Amino acid sequence: MASRLILVGPPASGKGTQAKILVERLGVPQISTGDMLRAAKAAGTPLGREAERYMTAGKLVPDEVVIGLVGERLQVADAAQGFILDGFPRTVPQAEALEALLSARGVRLDHVVQIDVPRSLLVERATLRRTDVRTGHIYHLKYSPPPSDAVLEHRDDDHEDKVNVRLDQYEAMTAALLPHYQSAGLLRRIDGTGAPSEVTQRVLAAIGAAV
Ligand code: AP5
Repeated sequence: MASRLILVGPPASGKGTQAKILVERLGVPQISTGDMLRAAKAAGTPLGREAERYMTAGKLVPDEVVIGLVGERLQVADAAQGFILDGFPRTVPQAEALEALLSARGVRLDHVVQIDVPRSLLVERATLRRTDVRTGHIYHLKYSPPPSDAVLEHRDDDHEDKVNVRLDQYEAMTAALLPHYQSAGLLRRIDGTGAPSEVTQRVLAAIGAAV
């Protein structure tokens, strides 16, 4: 089944966690603009250095930067049969650019799944998140504790002051996407609370995949 899916939701709502599970389930790659930008930052590329100024402040990276990244990534062969976009688009201009990229390939989006989590839980999910730098596995010190040999990174935008800026940015900018996809008939909202496996079942049900 071709699956061109967007996961949208506030910071720390579980987009990355779900995308990694769905990659196995749907057989299409995760495309995370956050991960691509962090990789560019770690590599010290000019793009990474530009992005760092925004990311460290919890602000959105300019549209043209992320649109360029996604445009290149969608040309990689593994995305031909579908993808799970995680963290893109985040603004209406990004959504319009994505539509243009897809229509140039003669394909369309299948689903946009919005993961809803109350703000009080999001701050706790973000501040206690840790990622294993070797495997990219996402842990949580309370809900999904890492093994003792994990090499953990605490993202510099996961400190509480930055998390609050990111949540405000989401409410101010990314939430404007939701009416865009609602009117296109693509938006499905799911409850992102509960165990990750329960959330996966809700995503699969929302997109009509066998649960
Ligand atoms: P990005 O990396 O995309 O960050 P984000 O959207 O803020 O999302 P997060 O990665 O914080 O969270 P998530 O929803 O993936 O949650 P996760 O699964 O990790 O972007 C970072 C920055 O890059 C942006 O601020 C911006 O500067 C820039 N950027 C990226 N894309 C951009 C774009 N398109 N335009 C402009 N700028 C862009 O889960 C979080 C934690 O919760 C983990 O610890 C996890 O273990 C835990 N958890 C997950 N699910 C559950 C559950 N069901 N129960 C309990 N704990 C759970």
